[in-house]
Amino acid sequence: MNTKIYGTGSCVPEQVVTNDDLSKTLDTSDEWIRTRTGIERRHIAKGSETASMLAVKAARKALENAKMQPNEIEAILVATTSGDYTFPNTASIVQAELGAENAACFDISAACTGFIYAFSVANAYIMSGMYKKVLVIGAEVMSSLVDWTDRSVCVLFGDGAGAVVLGESETGRHITRLHSNGGKGQVLTAGGLKKEYIKMDGQEVFRFAVKKVPESIEEVLQETGVSREEIKYFILHQANVRIIEAVAKRLGLPMDKFPVNLREYGNTSAASIPILLDELNRGEKLQTGDKLILSGFGAGLSWGSTLIQW
Ligand code: ACO
Repeated sequence: MNTKIYGTGSCVPEQVVTNDDLSKTLDTSDEWIRTRTGIERRHIAKGSETASMLAVKAARKALENAKMQPNEIEAILVATTSGDYTFPNTASIVQAELGAENAACFDISAACTGFIYAFSVANAYIMSGMYKKVLVIGAEVMSSLVDWTDRSVCVLFGDGAGAVVLGESETGRHITRLHSNGGKGQVLTAGGLKKEYIKMDGQEVFRFAVKKVPESIEEVLQETGVSREEIKYFILHQANVRIIEAVAKRLGLPMDKFPVNLREYGNTSAASIPILLDELNRGEKLQTGDKLILSGFGAGLSWGSTLIQW
């Protein structure tokens, strides 16, 4: 028994905020943001738009792409740190909206690595025979977690959701390796008793990412005996183009193996990997049998990679 992605979907808010828009209210510039991060625009939720609303739209598209009905889904896992409520969880709200009455529902909190963690749980459920079809979603309204007067943080983030339907398959391949280092947790925080906005030691996060992501990719390659050249795309969490370039360089691989869409969306945390995967799928960039590595990293600190076969 193995697992396979049967469908993907994504959704971002309609409202676009450009770097130039931000420079009207903040002491920043398009040039600073673009050269330091690669980000040009981000989509930001308007008014009452929530993570669950984005998640539902992404999930509907994924189900349609998979040619499956909501009542076939046995579990819904939402990776998020910006869900609608403390409880109920966002997955339950998605369940109700979709009419996926047969699904068990819960959220997973692992920040920007959240989608990889959720995906690994879904995979384990299917491999164990407990469930056959699982909806895995990354959905975030990061704009609710940033202080819009803090130029060092607010320019980096955007809102959105991405979803995949994972199911059992005779072929395919899937191996995930996850890591955490709680001792470094204070490098990147939000919330707490004082309900604070995101606080980040940007340079420390940068150093962590460019060291741990290549190590984590090497780890899954070694465990599977697959060479880095056999991987069609490395789909990394979209935090910063300079992190992605540094990872490509450390692995000795060309940037065309590392698709990038953060110019348009900024950092959408747990949603960034499934949004990018959906763009590749709908852009007909993926063929059956393609080997892909998905790699996440972020608060916790946490990181992890998964090798899948399309
Ligand atoms: N516009 C203009 N100037 C700014 C801005 C801004 N938006 N933000 C900070 N600055 C200023 C600072 O105040 C500082 O000014 P000073 O020299 O007068 O003190 C100067 O720019 C340099 O600031 P640094 O923080 O040293 O800038 P750095 O080169 O490290 O770039 C950045 C900051 C882009 C955040 C970088 O550290 C980085 O990419 N870190 C990775 C972290 C990341 O991507 N986090 C995303 C969330 S976490 C995740 O997804 C894993």
